[in-house]
Amino acid sequence: MLRSHTCGELNLTHNGQIVTLSGWVQRSRDLGGMTFVDLRDRYGITQLVFNMETNAPLCEEARKLGREYVISATGTVTERSNKNLKMPTGEIEIFVEKLEILNVSKIPPFTIEDNTDGGDELRMKYRYLDLRRNTVRDNLMLRHHMGIETRNYMNEIGFIEVETPVLIKSTPEGARDFVVPSRMNEGQFYALPQSPQTFKQLLMVAGLDKYFQIVKCFRDEDLRADRQPEFTQIDCEMSFVTQDDILNTFEGLTRHLFKTVKSVDINKLPRMTFADAMKNYGNDKPDIRFEMTFVELTDLVKGHDFKVFEDAELVAGINANGCAGYTRKQLDALTDFVKRPQVGAGGLIYVRFNEDGSLKSSVDKFYTEDDLKKWAAAFNAKPGDLMLILAGVAGKTRKALSELRLEMGNQLGLRNSEVFAPLWVVDFPLLEWDEDTQRYYAMHHPFTSPKPEDIPMLDTDPGKVRANAYDLVINGVEIGGGSIRIHNRDLQKRMFTILGFTDEDAQAQFGFLMNAFEFGAPPHGGIAFGFDRMCSLFGGSDSIRDYIAFPKNNSGRDVMIDSPSPIKQEQLDELKLKLNLTEK
Ligand code: AMO
Repeated sequence: MLRSHTCGELNLTHNGQIVTLSGWVQRSRDLGGMTFVDLRDRYGITQLVFNMETNAPLCEEARKLGREYVISATGTVTERSNKNLKMPTGEIEIFVEKLEILNVSKIPPFTIEDNTDGGDELRMKYRYLDLRRNTVRDNLMLRHHMGIETRNYMNEIGFIEVETPVLIKSTPEGARDFVVPSRMNEGQFYALPQSPQTFKQLLMVAGLDKYFQIVKCFRDEDLRADRQPEFTQIDCEMSFVTQDDILNTFEGLTRHLFKTVKSVDINKLPRMTFADAMKNYGNDKPDIRFEMTFVELTDLVKGHDFKVFEDAELVAGINANGCAGYTRKQLDALTDFVKRPQVGAGGLIYVRFNEDGSLKSSVDKFYTEDDLKKWAAAFNAKPGDLMLILAGVAGKTRKALSELRLEMGNQLGLRNSEVFAPLWVVDFPLLEWDEDTQRYYAMHHPFTSPKPEDIPMLDTDPGKVRANAYDLVINGVEIGGGSIRIHNRDLQKRMFTILGFTDEDAQAQFGFLMNAFEFGAPPHGGIAFGFDRMCSLFGGSDSIRDYIAFPKNNSGRDVMIDSPSPIKQEQLDELKLKLNLTEK
């Protein structure tokens, strides 16, 4: 028997029992007459004691144990004189009578502790050691819990989990595909799915009615803290539903996960149109943990010879409560912030609403205090507030003001990661115009249905057509997205034409779906949640990497297994592939 108990379960109720524990040596302390060893496993840490007086050879052996040695120790559970009540096992220790070294270990390249000295890259290279740390392991436990609760809930409400293939067909829409050469079909390639979108729709044609899958998806796109090249979705689809049915069903899942995993009760989710989200927050994923919504001043400020405002398509601002006392230095820092290329504003205008009721702005040359009073009224500002204003082209100004709003939210401590503010953003535009390629792209994907009342505009003003598409947004993060689908072959064909596909292209790439639509496709719709994003949100972290056992770095590399890597010439030959690499 390598263990009778784990390192996390013994307490005073076991006093006097003879037990065997196995695990890793966290650290050992030699105090002359006694040697103490902290033994760690997944469940916790237990203190082992070796006594020089009662068993000198064993104590000598214990002194030689290095960090991360794997040992098994048998001994008696004893009440500690010096208790550590912060640890579940802190009231006892084991007086060891037998010690077995199961394996030795090299000195680990970083300390296996909550606050490790290991940098990011080093921890990724030795991820299996990083995973021994409590914090990282707890993240995986949280992920496990979320997965189990998702399956429980979906099963409970009649969804069935169906696996869809991983070797599929490359399609040009969306992100770039990862492709896999086929040996048996010379010169041809599979693609890894960016999502099981078309398959889940085919499952609806097949009559499965309610499908879900916790599934790996692959996208060859630029990586960020919330994006990995392979990531996991909770992918779902339902038949005979309206948008309302879907929002209510998945609000249920969201509420269930918050309740069971975080013990948090979530109220009915507010719904906000895309247009309102852009107007009030400058963002289609608004963080509604705090207000600070946009106030538009364009009409109010014109006609005062202030060129920046005269030339601006939009003048808009936010009111930062209680910030009138910001110093010059703080205001300069905010100006630098908005001028950063990632934010893109030309400058920042501010108005202080002083505690004595006076108003002071950075554009006092152009505006009287009476003018500023009107602005303050528009902002609903009160003494002590600071109004921050940006001006310029509408789209760019909204985006920059959105960044400034989030920054102010951070500075004022309004973005507490233990507060959750979910909402649905609905009525997304169907199409997005791309200046570079001079064509429309599907904002969600080409299978998304336009709102029936907007269909006539498909020919006259396609950019204005709204879709039956929705996102679940929590704390400013896009957690999920979905839509009601087109289930009519002709409308789907028309969509492909609007997206610039010739009939032949559409048939070659999506013929299987359009053909299926000729065999009685039910009305259907669905959603996919970003599972990694959901886990990191629940765990209170910005980085999804912390919730993935073996993540890739920002260059898409797995530094532990050193992948991607070249393959042998024989493999290339077998695949009939010839590399034509240009010298760097
Ligand atoms: P969408 O492309 O919006 O929709 O993806 C759904 C959710 O997946 C998450 N996500 C990612 N997470 C980590 N890394 C990535 N690279 C990444 N890309 C996306 C996001 C996102 O909201 N088939 C449709 C869903 C549908 O219409 O039913 C789809 O894939 O949280």
